[in-house]
Amino acid sequence: MAINSSSHDVAERVERRWAILVLAIVVVLVGMVVYTGLHWAMMPPSRVETVRPETLHVSGEFIESNLGSAPETDGSVTVRIVAQQYSFTPQCLVVPAGVPVTFRATSSDVVHGFLITDTNINSMLEPGYVSTFKTTFDKPGEHLMPCHEYCGTGHQNMWAHVKVVERAEFMQMADKLPANSRRVSCVQ
Ligand code: CUA
Repeated sequence: MAINSSSHDVAERVERRWAILVLAIVVVLVGMVVYTGLHWAMMPPSRVETVRPETLHVSGEFIESNLGSAPETDGSVTVRIVAQQYSFTPQCLVVPAGVPVTFRATSSDVVHGFLITDTNINSMLEPGYVSTFKTTFDKPGEHLMPCHEYCGTGHQNMWAHVKVVERAEFMQMADKLPANSRRVSCVQ
């Protein structure tokens, strides 16, 4: 009987400790939610860029003739992309290796995913907002760019290509562009 009651005590003590531990974890998690909620409310991300999805194709940065890879005067490249159900414009991107590349992308309809295989580029494209990210591709190669956010019945067919070429080759392509266009893509 003595053994029984002491093992009962032990079990109760262990149970209480686990209960306290679980409670502590819950309190920490709730605390984190409250803290980050208040933190972001008081200090929103410093740079949120908005754009009007209904006029994307009419005027501004994301008109069709301005999409693709644009060589900048500082030697870097800016790539502008629009996602829509169920394709990207352009469908095939060309970027140089070893050069800083800035992507600027948005959606004209619903939320799409933007991911370039074998890189850490992974973002969401939301209508009304410009997603911006910078990268440098270290070597020439081919990558796929699938939409990874379910966006409707054609979602699985929504993907594009990214061709990384040597810098000199990219510059040659840029030089061959007609005077009224400064945008490189594989579909020109
Ligand atoms: Cu666009 Cu899935």
